[in-house]
Amino acid sequence: MTTSDVISKLKSEINCNISTEKSDLETYGTDWTREFNPDPLAVIFPKTIEDVKNIVSFANKNKVSLTPSGGRTGLSAGAVAKNGELVVSFEKMNKVLSFNKADRTLEVQAGITTKEIQDYAKEKGLFYPVDFSSAGSSQIGGNIATNAGGIRVIRYGLTRQWIKGLKVVTGKGDILELNKGLTKNATGYDLMNLFIGSEGTLGLIAEATIQLTTQPKDSSVILIGLKNIENSIKVLELFREKLTLNAFEFFSHSAVKHVVKKLERNIPVCDTLPYYLLVDIETPSDNEIEIASEIYTNAFETGLIEDGVISQNPSQYRELWSFRENITEAISVFLTYKNDISVRTSQIPDFINDISAILNNEYPDFDTILFGHIGDGNIHVSILKPHDFDKEKFLNLCRGVNTKIFETVAKYDGSISAEHGVGLIKKPYLTYTRSEAEIELMKGIKKVFDPNGIMNPGKIF
Ligand code: LAC
Ligand code: ZN
Repeated sequence: MTTSDVISKLKSEINCNISTEKSDLETYGTDWTREFNPDPLAVIFPKTIEDVKNIVSFANKNKVSLTPSGGRTGLSAGAVAKNGELVVSFEKMNKVLSFNKADRTLEVQAGITTKEIQDYAKEKGLFYPVDFSSAGSSQIGGNIATNAGGIRVIRYGLTRQWIKGLKVVTGKGDILELNKGLTKNATGYDLMNLFIGSEGTLGLIAEATIQLTTQPKDSSVILIGLKNIENSIKVLELFREKLTLNAFEFFSHSAVKHVVKKLERNIPVCDTLPYYLLVDIETPSDNEIEIASEIYTNAFETGLIEDGVISQNPSQYRELWSFRENITEAISVFLTYKNDISVRTSQIPDFINDISAILNNEYPDFDTILFGHIGDGNIHVSILKPHDFDKEKFLNLCRGVNTKIFETVAKYDGSISAEHGVGLIKKPYLTYTRSEAEIELMKGIKKVFDPNGIMNPGKIF
């Protein structure tokens, strides 16, 4: 069958909006990565789980591959369709299906945005804790498919912790209702958790049951300047010993000029230090604020920290956070080569020193930025392509250096992808984190769920 025969057949057999407009193919065939050129067959917009099932049946019968598409904010090319795949956009599956007050759960379709879930929870006096700067665009289906992390993992964990049930359509075309909202369910293999983080390679996530929780109490944030990274984990220990931390983030000096330019505001601490921390603390009463101030003052007096400022009100709280939250957007005007790597939190100082040495050595002329969630042992490394540098040459240089970075990750038993997923971009490096035996088992699992290999082919392995 020719491509146009497949599209005609699709249009006659499936009752969903289908687009083959060039602009739609370009938009829906990719994510926030800019390394690959999208080239999908078409984009299809299901509205219900039955539509999704029909699409998967069609794909199996007609040997069409499927690439799921959420908010397209991914950073590992997990949602890129570059080989004639049919893109399944969840944009029209964006409804809240039900709310259960006693269980504090929300049943939603996969295409609802993370922010809509946060807002819905707030309206009900509750809280959905997973958060990141792309929350306004990213969809819960994509969050689940990548087990998304973000800024509050240190307190609340990853997306996985907040999923109580999934309705999926496997690559074979079966609808599975997994876990059904249960808190306790000790009945063998946990297939729901297998789908979380599977990057669309086992099937399509159509609906989810989300656990909500109690709203956090008033919080304060401290922006801290450090002269060396060794002190970062000592600072973490001091604050965590006595207080509840909502976030423990960091960024290197090189991030500051980009964010300052974007925000058109100066950073309210000494702007020449090599590292900055953002410590978000639950401070429901003056007591916690006093303890935080004492810890801060002691750390300053003993030379652990160089400078800092504590938020005094909600507007200062947001202002201080903006210097961290705007990093990705501030550098988005550049083509950036990104790594998203993790080690155990205690190893962060040594790891950052090793990674910085590689970056300084290999990229003396490039602008390299480190930032991320060091309280979780996770750093993002962004290398910015100078505007006048050739794209392919730049990407090849970066790929060359990856070997050194990932050898370092492996030396620490760390992960080559902490929270962004493997997708197409990290696939060549999977063995630095997962053993051959593990990868063989993963491939075997994929075959069980997706015997014809139609589900997001080429992603992960
Ligand atoms: C962040 C994204 C890049 O932490 O994961 O801002
Ligand atoms: Zn991150």
